[in-house]
Amino acid sequence: MVWPSSLGLVGSGAMGRAMLCGLVRTRPELGRASVVADPIAAAAEAGAAEVRGRVGSVADAAACDLIVLAVKPKDAADALADIAPHVADRAVVLSVVTGWDLGRLARAAPGLSVVRTMPNLAVRFGAGLVAIAHQEFDLERRADLECALAPLGAIVALPESQFPAATALAGSGPGFLALIVEAFEDGGVASGLTRSQARSMARAVLAGTAALLADDDADPAVLRQRVSSPAGTTIAGLLVLERGSVRAHVADAIVAAARRAAEL
Ligand SMILES: NC(=O)c1ccc[n+]([C@@H]2O[C@H](COP(=O)([O-])OP(=O)(O)OC[C@H]3O[C@@H](n4cnc5c(N)ncnc54)[C@H](OP(=O)(O)O)[C@@H]3O)[C@@H](O)[C@H]2O)c1
Repeated sequence: MVWPSSLGLVGSGAMGRAMLCGLVRTRPELGRASVVADPIAAAAEAGAAEVRGRVGSVADAAACDLIVLAVKPKDAADALADIAPHVADRAVVLSVVTGWDLGRLARAAPGLSVVRTMPNLAVRFGAGLVAIAHQEFDLERRADLECALAPLGAIVALPESQFPAATALAGSGPGFLALIVEAFEDGGVASGLTRSQARSMARAVLAGTAALLADDDADPAVLRQRVSSPAGTTIAGLLVLERGSVRAHVADAIVAAARRAAEL
């Protein structure tokens, strides 16, 4: 039988639901075998409805083969205390809680098999980036885990010391890029496009640039130079960006987010 055969979600917010949808993407039967627990009934119902699962208590969700723990850091200690007595021997708890390292998770719920992850919302569509760290698992369990997580997107095993950086880049990254896409939209409108034209063009450019970068795994500087013809439009715009220190500001945003992640 394919592992897991049941999926529990504890905390049905944006991230938890994205994980739930991503994990069952290629296995709809797993969606129907999922249990969603959240103190807000509407949140639990919305999460369960997305995968045709059911709403249950924290104990019901904790009794599943794979349990996604997706509560805010301030709620993690209580949630772990609630789930710990109900977790079965071979079950695995997948934590997405920012800032909670394996040591802290183990102290809050001793004896559980826990995987620490740092995903982003794109896991919903199988296009996520998920940093993971876990205790020593036997080979069979590691293989099961790899298969179970594969539908989420790219899975990257990282030492925990790099989790704050991964949190900034993978977790917060979509937020930063969304702001840049908004700026593209505004620039398009300022140059004479309608809002909806600018919006669809900005999104298409984002997707197209991602495809170009993925195609040859090139240094982004090479792509930038390739589209900068002498005395052309791109170089004129790039000089404006460089005068505004956009590169340094974006890099500083990642550093600030990583610093904040380390504080949580
Ligand atoms: N959003 C992202 O892009 C992202 C990316 C990476 C990691 N994360 C991490 O993922 C976690 C969840 O983030 P989120 O944005 O999805 O948060 P969220 O929208 O606040 O969702 C968390 C949900 O868990 C519920 N909850 C709290 N205590 C619970 C308990 N003991 N049992 C069951 N449910 C409980 C909350 O209910 P109440 O509102 O009543 O407390 C809320 O509905 C956080 O640790 C965050 O750092 C988020």
